[in-house]
Amino acid sequence: MYVEHRLFPQFRLTAVADTCPEKLRWIRDNLGPEIECFSSAQAMLDSGKIDACIVTTPHFMHPEHVIMCLQHGIHVMCDKPAGVHILQVQQMNAEADKHPDLVFSIMLNQRTNCAYRRLREIVSSEEYGKVRRINWTVSNWYRSRYYYNSFDWRGIWNGAYGGTIVDQCTHQVDLWQWIFGMPDKVTCRMGFGVHHDIEVEDEVSAIMEYGNGCMGSFNLSTSIPNGQNILEVNLDAANITVKGSSIFAEKFCMPEQQWQKSPRGIYEKPAVEPEVELPTDGENRQHKGVLEAWINKILGKGEGANDGRDGLASIMLSNAMYMSAFTEKTIKLPLDGDAYYKELMKRVSASKTKPPVSDPLAAVRETFSVKDPRQIDKYFGITEVKQH
Ligand SMILES: NC(=O)c1ccc[n+]([C@@H]2O[C@H](COP(=O)([O-])OP(=O)(O)OC[C@H]3O[C@@H](n4cnc5c(N)ncnc54)[C@H](O)[C@@H]3O)[C@@H](O)[C@H]2O)c1
Repeated sequence: MYVEHRLFPQFRLTAVADTCPEKLRWIRDNLGPEIECFSSAQAMLDSGKIDACIVTTPHFMHPEHVIMCLQHGIHVMCDKPAGVHILQVQQMNAEADKHPDLVFSIMLNQRTNCAYRRLREIVSSEEYGKVRRINWTVSNWYRSRYYYNSFDWRGIWNGAYGGTIVDQCTHQVDLWQWIFGMPDKVTCRMGFGVHHDIEVEDEVSAIMEYGNGCMGSFNLSTSIPNGQNILEVNLDAANITVKGSSIFAEKFCMPEQQWQKSPRGIYEKPAVEPEVELPTDGENRQHKGVLEAWINKILGKGEGANDGRDGLASIMLSNAMYMSAFTEKTIKLPLDGDAYYKELMKRVSASKTKPPVSDPLAAVRETFSVKDPRQIDKYFGITEVKQH
């Protein structure tokens, strides 16, 4: 995106730090000698070659690397998730508070999807009343054994510190709390390495409970080849469904509470209008949009960048899901960061070490196999603005 397709003219890639020598060699061979390569983050940050940094190291390293950037006076974009446990993310956020002059942002790219943004407006404005029930099934992040074998850190507690909840579905965990707010209680069951030879979870079922009686069910799997991502929300006066970047509504003739109070036939339901697609602004700019907003904010040219500190909320929710599965108890939020850290470390200390991967460049080659710039937007799931 940065180099081959020059998507960001205001931004120049000057340096890369990676501890993997094969990847640095690949960068030198493929992206040109003008990009300086460093074998440690510290060396790159000390070099004076960069004024902004994108942190895309394994999840648990994000807070450490973000803190290093901030302490070097460097603007920073943290890839998702913010980290793997509450304590380290709180530490990162406390450091960010000391540097209000630096732009600290986070790659919560799914928040740019017009359908989720529209749903968030519907929920906060209560235009169809309050949310009663949420059902979200996310089984379209299929991952194979080959995927887990292609990374030396994924699939094990002492590497990824979690499975799909901190990796692929970290996006939906974030969207859940961003759209519906933080639940009061979470009860969660997980299957650890059910369909893959991994230590961490590949199957998840959670119940989210809110103080006002709203209940949600959140089901995640990475082992279904033709999985789906369907979010159904039942409100007082409509049923809403989100599929991809489209949002649909079935409106009731009157709010259900009002209907039940007046005398009707004993099995009679409120009339429901046929399902319609709701208009949105059609924008779904994903990584490109989040990066542009960050760059513009650094250049003093605009608002709209994600605040990096926002990453804590989804870590709080995901840690509560793990805590419930580990302890087989219902967890009240907010969760105590120390208590979760102790539970997590029990898994980490019992974790196996993975052998080095046989082909460290497999994932790099796969990403760079998309050579046609017109295909890049498709690859990253970006939808261009549609006119409604
Ligand atoms: N926002 C998104 O849609 C999205 C998509 C993919 C990945 N990610 C995130 O990006 C991160 C990396 O994922 P990936 O798939 O690229 O993994 P990866 O293993 O391909 O990349 C991580 C890189 O970090 C390097 N590294 C490890 N320790 C290091 C250290 N101490 N200093 C410098 N470099 C170090 C590794 O050698 C490797 O090249 C993850 O946190 C993941 O969640 C986000």
